[in-house]
Amino acid sequence: MSRFEPSGPLRGSLRPPSDKSISHRAALIAAMGSREIYVESFLDAADTSSTLSAVKAVGAEVEPSKTGDGELGVVIKGVGLRDARSAEIDVGNAGTLLRLLPGWLSGQVGQGWTLDGDESIRRRPVDRVAVPLREMGADLKAREERLPPLHVRGASLHGITYEMPIASAQVKSCLLFAGLLAEGETRVVEPLPSRDHTERMLLAAGASIERDGDAVVVQPTDQLEPVSVSVPADISSAAFFIVAALLIEGSEVVLDDVNVNPTRTGLLTILRRMGAEIGLLAEDGVGGEPIASLRIRSASLQATDVGGPEIPLAIDELPLVALAACFAEGTTTIRDAEELRRKESDRIETVTAALNALGGKVEPTPDGMVIEGTGGLRGGTIDSHGDHRIAMLGAVAGLASKEGVEVRGMEAAAVSYPGFEQDLGSLLGG
Ligand code: S3P
Repeated sequence: MSRFEPSGPLRGSLRPPSDKSISHRAALIAAMGSREIYVESFLDAADTSSTLSAVKAVGAEVEPSKTGDGELGVVIKGVGLRDARSAEIDVGNAGTLLRLLPGWLSGQVGQGWTLDGDESIRRRPVDRVAVPLREMGADLKAREERLPPLHVRGASLHGITYEMPIASAQVKSCLLFAGLLAEGETRVVEPLPSRDHTERMLLAAGASIERDGDAVVVQPTDQLEPVSVSVPADISSAAFFIVAALLIEGSEVVLDDVNVNPTRTGLLTILRRMGAEIGLLAEDGVGGEPIASLRIRSASLQATDVGGPEIPLAIDELPLVALAACFAEGTTTIRDAEELRRKESDRIETVTAALNALGGKVEPTPDGMVIEGTGGLRGGTIDSHGDHRIAMLGAVAGLASKEGVEVRGMEAAAVSYPGFEQDLGSLLGG
């Protein structure tokens, strides 16, 4: 159990940890090549270490090393696009690994794999990838047709046109990987744009991949030529400090090196609409992705409505939008976000329970939440339910609350951000 007392302003600057989505993809795509590449600033956290173990299990050579500034660098020599070897794979808590990896494995004839993970992973649906992969010719078996463990037997695949029923970058990426090994072209139609890191990285690795309206089209290839890459900081981790700085009067923080890919910056758009001033400084590019330093100062916030195309662009930050809304003037509505129920926890339920336990006024709906701004939160005790983002939400709520917050299960933060409490302390002058 960790306790977070009401705090003074956050001040100073730091680089949040590296991007989780990009790190997963960097390791997977490196494993699909056959030359040695270097991934600089790979995310050093539980989820992405599951991905390194997975690519090792299928035969890639992986050499992690810490650099002078404490960052993790990884040298990866892949197995080639069609030579992954059979293995039992423990994905831990990593939903992205669970959904992306089968796309690559499905097309490798003569080999077999089992993907399984922790208690939370066992509740995460895999039918969203199994259904279209089977349409491509894949041989997959899941528990009750939709849950891990997922058994994959390599098969010959053929390209399809798939209209995704949900805007999911995980499903899109899985099918793009499968498309590299399939016969003919694969077309993935998105109902709404979602994060496009896979497309950017595959293009850099020489794949023939292009956007055609709301579809992403990939052609099969004999080999990929992944390139060395540097991973920018994760806006989903930066988000905790962005919201903490906004809520705590007198704060001013600068977060460096943050990935500001427009498919990831929905939170910034929403918070600006609520009255936040967030400056983008030192805009640059790294690893095929735009980056910037973000400058955030405390501000008073107004309620807003969040839904439609904004949802996939802010999906992992919606719990923080709900927290900010408790402090805003007026009633905020989040809709079209039923996907929140299928994350590391049912985030409509866990966010509602957490914020209400702290004195908030939040009503869950089937696809979102209605949050009445009450000007602040009293404080109390919350449970992370093993969900990293709920644990860190509790910490931020504690600093901004009147009486402080106890978080049960704070250790869950290590899934994406092992140094969270230390970094928070540094912004508080600790
Ligand atoms: C991710 C995509 C999102 C997101 C998850 C990471 C990715 O999931 O919630 O944390 O790296 O592709 P969906 O694609 O299922 O929405």
